[in-house]
Amino acid sequence: MRSTTSELRQSRGVIEHYRQYLPVSASTSIVSLGEGNTPLIYCPHLSKRVGRVCEVFVKNEGVNPTGSFKDRGMTVAVSKAIERGAKALICASTGNTSASAAAYAARAGISCIVILPAGKIATGKLLQAFAYGAKIVAVDGSFDDALRIVRELGDGRDLVIVNSINPDRIAGQKTGAFEIVDVLGDAPDFHLLPVGNAGNITAYWAGYRAYERHQKSTKLPAMIGFQAAGAAPIFHNRIIEKPETIASAIRIGNPASWKQARAAIAESQGAIDTVSDEEIFAAQGWLAKHEGIFIEPASAAAIAGLFKCCDSNDAACSFQKIPEASRIVCTVTGHGLKDPDAIIQQMNGLKPVAPTVSDVRRAIGL
Ligand code: F0G
Repeated sequence: MRSTTSELRQSRGVIEHYRQYLPVSASTSIVSLGEGNTPLIYCPHLSKRVGRVCEVFVKNEGVNPTGSFKDRGMTVAVSKAIERGAKALICASTGNTSASAAAYAARAGISCIVILPAGKIATGKLLQAFAYGAKIVAVDGSFDDALRIVRELGDGRDLVIVNSINPDRIAGQKTGAFEIVDVLGDAPDFHLLPVGNAGNITAYWAGYRAYERHQKSTKLPAMIGFQAAGAAPIFHNRIIEKPETIASAIRIGNPASWKQARAAIAESQGAIDTVSDEEIFAAQGWLAKHEGIFIEPASAAAIAGLFKCCDSNDAACSFQKIPEASRIVCTVTGHGLKDPDAIIQQMNGLKPVAPTVSDVRRAIGL
């Protein structure tokens, strides 16, 4: 029998699924693209790297509707903005927030303004914001400059800021932690993730705590955040005026949720650490080639971080003596196709051969 549209068994999105934990009511009309419910993938090769019968899982946020974790927070932020009568959205971004905001604004039928650091946004992300019809302004400055301007322009009513300084964004992003606990049956022992503006580490920690309060879990993970070595204000405990890293999504020198991230790390007995661009790039390639998961460089900071915890004597958190059978979750935040430039450069050596079986055989090395 033909289902009515509301009965269709389609992905309903994080608000439908976790309504009781989110700041929505019956009168909130939901703006959703079916975000969330992303796979938590057991990774045998990563688990082997850790050893001690530990299990490593990757939470693949790159398969959200716009290819990053931002969609979880955006569905809540945009639904609430519409409920309050917003006319337009505004955000600063290193790329993913702008792609997500532009998509959800398009879905809601309102306009979206994105302020970006000129020349510093990965191709795929800029293209998304453009395709979704956002008004894009590039400023000759950093993400931190863009966010400063957005804070002044957003008025909270007509022109709503949808960066993670908007508490509705954080509320929505908590659902990442809920999903992990729902799959594992309890919280993991360690949670590793990249840190840029520090909204996501704040949200995950709030999510784990909320679920523990509701007796959905019996413990809390240690939150381990990783910043790129050239953009590590929280690690160094000082503003970085000119942050630099190939991981453009986390090229941030003065994170908005700095204090909250510090609190999450301290309360969870976690750590903040750095990884170099070389380590990030190597981890991105490693995860694609060994586990079949293609992620963007910023996301690879979590995987590079895992390797550092396993191998390095000066890691802020060492896995060499962690309890046997510990469960470790790494959130990988964005899809690899968003930021292909560095990998495209490696592919330039691809030379066509003549269209004969013997030429192809030779090229393969058979
Ligand atoms: N990973 C990716 C792929 C990101 O896009 C971001 C942040 C982060 C990690 C860090 O998350 O800021 O919550 O600590 N991107 C923001 C943006 C800044 O504008 O898209 P965070």
